[in-house]
Amino acid sequence: MDCRAVSEVKGCIYIEQSRQQNTLEQDIKQGLMEIPRSLPPKYFYDERGSLLFDKICETDEYYPTRVESELLDQYALDLIKQAHPAHILEFGSGTSRKTHHLIQACEKQGVQCKYLPFDVCEEMLHQVRDEFMQQYQWLDVVPLVGDYTAGLENLHRPEGACMYVFLGSSIGNFSQQEARKFIHEVCQCMYPGDTLLLGVDRVKNKQVLHQAYNDADGVTSEFNLNLLKVLNYQLNADFDLQKFKHKAIYNALQQRIEMYLVSQQAQSVSLNAIGETLEFSTGDQILTEVSHKYHYQQAESLLTDAGLHILRHIEPDNAWFSLVLAKK
Ligand code: SAH
Ligand code: TRP
Repeated sequence: MDCRAVSEVKGCIYIEQSRQQNTLEQDIKQGLMEIPRSLPPKYFYDERGSLLFDKICETDEYYPTRVESELLDQYALDLIKQAHPAHILEFGSGTSRKTHHLIQACEKQGVQCKYLPFDVCEEMLHQVRDEFMQQYQWLDVVPLVGDYTAGLENLHRPEGACMYVFLGSSIGNFSQQEARKFIHEVCQCMYPGDTLLLGVDRVKNKQVLHQAYNDADGVTSEFNLNLLKVLNYQLNADFDLQKFKHKAIYNALQQRIEMYLVSQQAQSVSLNAIGETLEFSTGDQILTEVSHKYHYQQAESLLTDAGLHILRHIEPDNAWFSLVLAKK
């Protein structure tokens, strides 16, 4: 699909990349064929991956969704009163499950706003649009299809105050440097009166963190392994999912969860579409995702270093998660 900011297909707007992004083939060559092996996390999210992520959110161990949702339930009205948005633009919206709190708060406040979910997963965006337009008949939903790491210069910028929303601690999936760059880019999009609501996962007990990424039912494992399925159909590859294992560890020094797929034996994998072969020894690993955790002050610095001003910083009693609202 050609991604032009102006092109509109099935009511979606395709956001043109403002920076050249690697193709999957380039990412494979730079990420998978070099040691240490890694891949950008956006490839997790085909339709099955998005649904599996939603299943992770329902596990007992994965606290971020639950905690953030409770915070939104409690504070959405306050946040909406403060932001008074004409538009809510959400990065990495996924199933938009938690966004209901914000939309319902708009409804209660009589704030007439437009919802702009922005995601790489187009199937999910269609579902969200249908669901939200049915549930909130007053609401206009305009899905934005694109890659938010490809620059934000072509973001469809509507009139009136915009509340940018980035939930689920997805900011943690960037390196600390990339996170700063991303917030800076969001900041460049913002006009006076605009706000940014950021969900940030906090440094906490190692055990709690470990369990959140190693649920007992193996949903996180299935999600991680799904990446290989994506490569199998996108590159006509022959990864055998039985021969790789999910591993997630907390690296306390770097304040981050590191997620790997570990080869269980010596094996070669053919990437037929690009005519390449990967050789793995037993124990070789692919870094598939990092999830950075932040201290209270660090969560604020992410925003203030970009020149934003903190309006609210909300956390639960156990300080497991932060919701920070900032303005230009
Ligand atoms: N915000 C939701 C979903 C988080 S999962 C929540 O808090 O539960 C991450 C979401 O970001 C997925 O829907 C995925 O498709 C999307 N995503 C990941 N990388 C992306 C990228 N580079 N550009 C746009 N969307 C991306
Ligand atoms: N933003 C989520 C997080 O960092 C993404 C996530 C949760 C995730 N569980 C995962 C990514 C498992 C890969 C694998 O918490």
